[in-house]
Amino acid sequence: MAKVLDIESKRTQTLMAKDVATAKTPEAVPVNPNAKKVFIKTYGCQMNVYDSQRMADILAPIGYAPSDSAEGADLVILNTCHIREKAAEKVYSELGRVRKMKEDRLASGGGEMTVAVAGCVAQAEGAEITRRAPVVDMVLGPQTYHKLPEMIARLARSNDEVLETDFDTQEKFDELPIERDVKGFAAFVTIQEGCDKFCTFCVVPYTRGAEVSRPVDQIVAEIRALAAKGVREVTLLGQNVNAYHGKAPAGSIEAEYGLGELVKHVAKIGGIDRIRFTTSHPRDMDEALIAAHGDETKLMPYLHLPLQAGSDKILKAMNRGHTYAEYRDLIARIRAARPDLALSSDFIVGFPGETDEDFEATMTAVREIGYGSAFSFKYSIRPGTPGADLPNQVPEDVKSARLSRLQELLAKQQTEFNQSLIGKTLPVLVENVSAKNDGTVFGRAPYLQGTHFAAGPETVGQIVQVRITDAGRNSLTGELA
Ligand code: SAH
Ligand code: SF4
Ligand code: F3S
Repeated sequence: MAKVLDIESKRTQTLMAKDVATAKTPEAVPVNPNAKKVFIKTYGCQMNVYDSQRMADILAPIGYAPSDSAEGADLVILNTCHIREKAAEKVYSELGRVRKMKEDRLASGGGEMTVAVAGCVAQAEGAEITRRAPVVDMVLGPQTYHKLPEMIARLARSNDEVLETDFDTQEKFDELPIERDVKGFAAFVTIQEGCDKFCTFCVVPYTRGAEVSRPVDQIVAEIRALAAKGVREVTLLGQNVNAYHGKAPAGSIEAEYGLGELVKHVAKIGGIDRIRFTTSHPRDMDEALIAAHGDETKLMPYLHLPLQAGSDKILKAMNRGHTYAEYRDLIARIRAARPDLALSSDFIVGFPGETDEDFEATMTAVREIGYGSAFSFKYSIRPGTPGADLPNQVPEDVKSARLSRLQELLAKQQTEFNQSLIGKTLPVLVENVSAKNDGTVFGRAPYLQGTHFAAGPETVGQIVQVRITDAGRNSLTGELA
């Protein structure tokens, strides 16, 4: 613990030194802790959730305390998602509301409110954001938020808009503080970022840049610090998490670790009892990772492995790099290693050129594989991706009809899967006592379902055995075993 704190204080000094060096007017940097408030609103994937937490960690040493609302905040950051059109548009409507708050605050003598747009919309749209929404003072891409203190200082100096959209992912990893302000017993840890796959529907390779893996020692230091604060479950994050190939730990005979080796290494950290990872790509499931599902008991038996579509023609047009048969065989191998494994997936309906027959192949695939849960979306044209220029775009009403059929099937499978757990005893990580104050607690089962059962507050933070007595589509009910 002392070591961790030591690293943290060095990190704080680095940030301040950097500010002073670039700002030339050190007094521009707020020094009074808690003097200012930052509100961060997060859209999109788990990596954005992680990034938002880390932005808060980076801002704390320069005097920003987190706030639960934009009202009264000195700094408002929207951490945005560009994955589908609706996700991106939400940001502009939120900016309309923020503008009103900023004006009201100024009018009531409450002072300035700095507005920043971070995340994937920031990366994709850059200066277009300040053109469309002049209320925005700062635009920062997902690989630049370690520069926030410097950007704030720059803004204070010149009052010109600040735009940062570099792709130095390695530098970002190196600059992240080890220590985190963490709540609860489960935490995300980014281990890899960016994507080299270029699926033809997807913006991520353009918004997150090339694949970069964090060195093992850096990841371990962060997880140790989390464990010291009571965290028992970590979810290792990456846009292509199983493409992970990070620098092996100091003293190791190997140069790099893959995800299978990393999982085993993380499992040795005292206090960490559960490990998950997301999101994987079927092409990167190697033997070591498959084997880890069989012999690493801390690795949860729940794998998110997106298939996207069941038709080989569509998989090819999407540039997924595998056929449906290859996916099905892969699943059989992972299930052989870990028989109680449950699966989840992402699906896209209405990709350009998808016929009724292609869509039926997706339905067949879902029936054959059987999912514990899944996300499904209508294809959304993303400007600049190859899919946007393809002929035979599918009409909106056809996409909607396909999506409801698919979602009906997936909902049925999810309910059936949850009901198949009735009578079984599962380990549940207890997160909190029920808000109803009725002598029950809430936790997560290995398959991530929220689980409710009668138990005292002393179980919070523990992993307890729970016999499942009832199950709905989204949650389980049980009793202490
Ligand atoms: N890296 C992950 C996915 C990241 S995006 C992977 O390779 O699977 C999360 C999900 O959003 C994708 O799996 C896909 O199903 C969906 N998605 C991405 N782009 C989309 C688009 N243009 N339209 C609809 N859904 C999309
Ligand atoms: Fe997007 Fe494909 Fe990369 Fe996943 S693998 S982030 S879907 S380009
Ligand atoms: Fe969205 Fe960017 Fe994540 S586009 S899904 S926030 S990687």
